[in-house]
Amino acid sequence: MRLKFVIIGCGKIAERHAAHISKRGVLVAVCDVVKEKADGLASKYGAKAYYSIKDLLDADECIDIAAVCTPNGLHAAHTIQCLNAGLHVLCEKPMALRVEDCRGMIDAAKSSGKVLAVVKQNRFNPPVVAVKELLDKRALGKIYSIQVNCYWNREADYYTSSNWRGTKELDGGILFTQFSHFIDIMYWFAGEVETTIAYLSNYHHQYIQFEDSGNTIIKFRNGVTGSINFTINSYGKNVEGSVTIIAEKGCVKIGGPYLNTIEFQNLAERQVIELTKEGIQANDYGTYQGSMSNHDKVYDNLLKVLMDQDQLSASAEDGLKTVEIIEKIYQSAVWMGRSFKQ
Ligand SMILES: NC(=O)c1ccc[n+]([C@@H]2O[C@H](COP(=O)([O-])OP(=O)(O)OC[C@H]3O[C@@H](n4cnc5c(N)ncnc54)[C@H](O)[C@@H]3O)[C@@H](O)[C@H]2O)c1
Repeated sequence: MRLKFVIIGCGKIAERHAAHISKRGVLVAVCDVVKEKADGLASKYGAKAYYSIKDLLDADECIDIAAVCTPNGLHAAHTIQCLNAGLHVLCEKPMALRVEDCRGMIDAAKSSGKVLAVVKQNRFNPPVVAVKELLDKRALGKIYSIQVNCYWNREADYYTSSNWRGTKELDGGILFTQFSHFIDIMYWFAGEVETTIAYLSNYHHQYIQFEDSGNTIIKFRNGVTGSINFTINSYGKNVEGSVTIIAEKGCVKIGGPYLNTIEFQNLAERQVIELTKEGIQANDYGTYQGSMSNHDKVYDNLLKVLMDQDQLSASAEDGLKTVEIIEKIYQSAVWMGRSFKQ
């Protein structure tokens, strides 16, 4: 039997979800408050268009899975509505903008008995998988430190392309929208974060309600130290998105613009990470590029989980951890910067 899906939020990333869903199940409905967006996606896939989640859920289309692709600040409410209506949910990243909201989502999943998965497609990037395997085998020995560098470019055209981008309430900040994948990988490799110190600035984007650059020092619970240097001011285009591990038995840097290559490796015991070219394309949004294009693997994993053949590649608790780390960073932040829109 082919599973039935709905996509909530018919914007850019929804296109990618729809393409993968249509190869694995049936996209029976889509929902967007902007009629043209819902109609456009619906007509492409022969789905029924809805313009409010309430109408969608009241219609009782016998849907199995909802893909929540709405703006960040709406993920919690939309996910909880769908779970309470008896649908499994695949929620886009970031899981939510507050830890408290993530807890509400996890509670709703527990009380409904439905699966809540969060999109963390970079966990499937070949270099990320290879390094995680080395860490799990303890082949790198003790990690001393981990450094995350994210130097991306986002300009005014990006922020005017949707009315939620750049707002504190719905976007949340560049750690949520641009760099949460990197934080997830850092957490996956190095574990729980204990404390952070952060300096944030807004140099160039006065029309957004948060930072456009930041530098963070991190102390992990296990004694590892780390840093995250992040910006959307890289001139003209993205230059780097990397995770570097300095460990007892090796040093490795995963890089390329989208964590899609090994930039450097020097590992003990003549170990070498070898990558093939397979599956290392980035998501292309036209005027800007985003993270690697592994949403197909996220769907394959979710479907296996629903058949009791696998565990989630990223659980809801993992989703919460990213939000918790970002919350810690923003709570510890010292503002260095210029004025920005309130
Ligand atoms: N996994 C990834 O790498 C990745 C990449 C891009 C975006 N995302 C995430 O996907 C989400 C959407 O991003 P996008 O780039 O597609 O944004 P977008 O602005 O293109 O699309 C969002 C859509 O949600 C709709 N919407 C807003 N409120 C709604 C409501 N109450 N009910 C139904 N629809 C509503 C909007 O009209 C819009 O069409 C964001 O959370 C973003 O962080 C993830």
